[in-house]
Amino acid sequence: MEEKELRSVASQLSCPEGEFGLVVGDKMNVLNQFISNKTIEALSAKQGESIVEVGPGNGFLSIPLLDVLGKDGYYFGVEMSDLMAAEASRILSDKSCTVEILNGSCSEVYIKPSSIDGVIAINVLYFIEDLISFFKQLRSWVKPRGRVVFGVRSDRALNNLPFAQYGFNIRSTDEIEMLMEQAGFVSIASSVYDEGMTSFGDVDIPVDSVIIVGRKPDM
Ligand SMILES: C[S@@+](CC[C@H](N)C(=O)[O-])C[C@H]1O[C@@H](n2cnc3c(N)ncnc32)[C@H](O)[C@@H]1O
Repeated sequence: MEEKELRSVASQLSCPEGEFGLVVGDKMNVLNQFISNKTIEALSAKQGESIVEVGPGNGFLSIPLLDVLGKDGYYFGVEMSDLMAAEASRILSDKSCTVEILNGSCSEVYIKPSSIDGVIAINVLYFIEDLISFFKQLRSWVKPRGRVVFGVRSDRALNNLPFAQYGFNIRSTDEIEMLMEQAGFVSIASSVYDEGMTSFGDVDIPVDSVIIVGRKPDM
């Protein structure tokens, strides 16, 4: 693949748009099912909780989470891409919990302070420049003991993905954990899952999922 195409893939992953954006959204639903399920599992949401997801894409992979939240639960999807936000509103429209899709960047949307039980973000940290400010913002949204869970590909896996060289912030798990700690999260821990090989063009590339959890301290 040429540099121009790799840049286009990277740009679509950071903010899907246009006709190709719809294709990218569907493709992510296949490639990211495992990491998404593992992140949702680690969040361990309960019926009636209020959960924020930053960067849900078209929302399809969030359905198992919304099913757990049930009719008394709240799901806020914060999605920067106009296209993905519209798709997520459509795809999640028949869920029994209250669904609010906030179309904008996580740095701009309003979430009531200390109102949220948990936040997830899957394959999103690469697109955040100022990670410590982002973590501090999430900390302000969650209640005392509120959880945050991030699903990312490891720096090793990202360094093997040709498009990730164009605009991705590639960070080690240690660096992410250190910034979470600096932002005031505690009980930080991570799990790594090997997903084997995936094909990219005519090359096979090793892929993994790193799930990083933390929580806001009591009061
Ligand atoms: C690589 S996709 C991941 C989608 C889905 N979570 C998954 O794993 O399949 C990243 C998503 O995050 C969104 N995004 C990127 N930066 C964002 C930001 N600052 N605020 C809100 N959404 C953002 C993009 O528009 C895109 O839909």
